[in-house]
Amino acid sequence: MTAYAMGELEPTPFDERVAPTYDAGSAHMFEPAVLGPTVDVLHEIAGAGPALELAIGTGRVALPLAARRVEVHGIDVSEAMVRELRRKPGGDRLPGVIGDMATTRVGSGYRLAYLVYNTITNLLTQDEQVECFCTVAAQLAPGGAFVVEVFVPQLRRMPPGQTAVPFHVGGRHVGFDTIDVVTQRSVSHHDVRAGVREDDDGREVATYSASAHRYVWPSELDLMARIAGLTLRDRWADWTRAPFTADSESHVSVWTKAAS
Ligand SMILES: C[S@@+](CC[C@H](N)C(=O)[O-])C[C@H]1O[C@@H](n2cnc3c(N)ncnc32)[C@H](O)[C@@H]1O
Repeated sequence: MTAYAMGELEPTPFDERVAPTYDAGSAHMFEPAVLGPTVDVLHEIAGAGPALELAIGTGRVALPLAARRVEVHGIDVSEAMVRELRRKPGGDRLPGVIGDMATTRVGSGYRLAYLVYNTITNLLTQDEQVECFCTVAAQLAPGGAFVVEVFVPQLRRMPPGQTAVPFHVGGRHVGFDTIDVVTQRSVSHHDVRAGVREDDDGREVATYSASAHRYVWPSELDLMARIAGLTLRDRWADWTRAPFTADSESHVSVWTKAAS
């Protein structure tokens, strides 16, 4: 498992090559059973908004949330991803900026800021993750909430000496992580056969992409929130608000800013 050494990969793979196939490659995340409860929870917390999506991408969550009359703003570092968002109905009406979510402010007075689909881990250092919490806190209205959806590091599934763990093995998508427990860095590798290109003979060609991450523990996130002046209000295992347990593989956490 040394083929994908750390440091060989661009940290942000959401470029012109990947952005047009992002939705097809993430089709499972668009399924109503996944997206419906996501938008329900965010809508309930946001009220009429305004809401800020960090790493808005192609608008998977922002567009259905905006369709419920929530005012949604966005930030993303990838022009290619935002170009895909702008092509969709309603996508050109969502205000937003291109920038680094760790440091860039979009506005103020948000009832809700949210960062879903494990994207906090795209910030590759602890300092950047803390800075992101602080930047969000500064933009929240009093009483506003920051919601993060992120995986729980699956180190218990890694026997001593092993450095890779599969996280999805399906007909159209095979994904596995290589993990470095010393640096708390991991790389997610994806082979995707959706949104497919064809070669000269008309055959399907899988696209390979990889992204670098810094995995982060729930308790570590709580400390980051505290540094930013936020307090944990809820932690669920998923968007259906299932209880978070020792066996949960991901969590949805809600931190709030004091009301005054
Ligand atoms: C997995 S996609 C998630 C997109 C969308 N939130 C969703 O749920 O479908 C990750 C997104 O994070 C963006 N991203 C990665 N690092 C970022 C950073 N430092 N600041 C802003 N956006 C970032 C990428 O460009 C990409 O659009």
